[in-house]
Amino acid sequence: MTILVTGGAGFIGSNFVLDWLSGSDEAVVNVDKLTYAGNLQNLELLAGDDRHVFVRADIGDSQVIADLLARHQPRAIVNFAAESHVDRSIHGPADFIETNVVGTFRLLEAVRVDWAARSPEARQGFRFLHVSTDEVYGSLAAEDAPFRETNRYEPNSPYSASKAASDHLVRAYHHTYGLPVLTTNCSNNYGPYHFPEKLIPLCIHNALAGKPLPIYGDGQQIRDWLYVTDHCSAIRAVLEKGRLGETYNIGGWNEKANLDVVRTLCAVLDELKPRADGLSYAEQIRFVTDRPGHDRRYAIDATKIERELGWRPAETFETGIAKTVRWYLDHQDWVENVTSGAYQRWIGQQYGA
Ligand code: NAD
Ligand code: DAU
Repeated sequence: MTILVTGGAGFIGSNFVLDWLSGSDEAVVNVDKLTYAGNLQNLELLAGDDRHVFVRADIGDSQVIADLLARHQPRAIVNFAAESHVDRSIHGPADFIETNVVGTFRLLEAVRVDWAARSPEARQGFRFLHVSTDEVYGSLAAEDAPFRETNRYEPNSPYSASKAASDHLVRAYHHTYGLPVLTTNCSNNYGPYHFPEKLIPLCIHNALAGKPLPIYGDGQQIRDWLYVTDHCSAIRAVLEKGRLGETYNIGGWNEKANLDVVRTLCAVLDELKPRADGLSYAEQIRFVTDRPGHDRRYAIDATKIERELGWRPAETFETGIAKTVRWYLDHQDWVENVTSGAYQRWIGQQYGA
């Protein structure tokens, strides 16, 4: 048996592939375009492991995808591939439409054709799991209840709008063609292999480099944080036991204001790798211009996945952030490799540094 994972060289995808193969002998075909966010170094631990087949390809390349489906006949597909950074979607939305909307559509089409040609038993057992985000629900006010699966879609950034469009296509392929799909909408992840353009790894990197820790606006925006391997275990649970055509919100009930997140990781760094001058890394915090259209608050109501599938996160924010900071301290070579010329250009464009 085989599963096919897309975007498996990115942050969550690579954690998922490593996690999957640590607990199963079922092979993984890993399809990734290797954009700036994809990194084969994330998969180094699988070197020489026959259970992992890496293919550099675009999910929008219908012919390559059709050939892979015909050759491997995966029993499931987990679709992580996407452009994922909100700030980049503000500077240049076109790639987000191309991969998240058109790419997902082409992938679905290739999958539908392959699936329709399978035996009735194979068709029945097949799953297409689409990995999406809580950002499709828009922004919450302080007094609002956390997002439930029944909340209206109100995406506010080109990124979230492109993810919302892909979710709708996945839903339509179930209703129209009967494709056995599942969709997950998860909150903010953090952990190993997180590209240092996102808040947590960026601030760890900048702290150690003696650079400013940029806080957008007043830093009181709230995100709901989940350690990445908890997202992986939730996806496995949905794949195994999720009801077809359903969506599942994933989150760990961990709402934090951005400023508190950065202060927490500064405190962990102060403990593990104190600054030479004895001051706290929090001294490096700087308030900068806000993100345009910045969503104020996200929060996930995870009752459905907890009740229906018995899923629970293993990490608290405190244990997860300590693990994360330790991982970055132990993997400075990884950080150096990904903060190449292209990375420096992005930082210059975004922060004027
Ligand atoms: P990421 O940017 O780290 O990785 C994305 C991966 O997809 C990269 O390896 C990239 O090379 C690959 N990719 C991009 N375009 C592709 C294409 N056209 N064809 C094939 N591969 C392509 O993203 P991530 O943070 O790991 O997110 C993975 C998925 O999870 C995304 O769909 C994202 O929307 C969703 N998600 C992310 C979070 C989060 O906090 N990071 C939370 C909820 C949902
Ligand atoms: O909610 C799930 C989403 O979480 C995923 O769908 C996205 O793929 C993922 O990138 C993430 O989106 P966010 O925009 O919430 O993550 P980011 O790390 O970019 O920002 C987290 C918060 O921190 C957000 O309120 C913006 C703020 N921020 C971010 C950066 C990069 C800053 O204050 N300063 C920064 O330099």
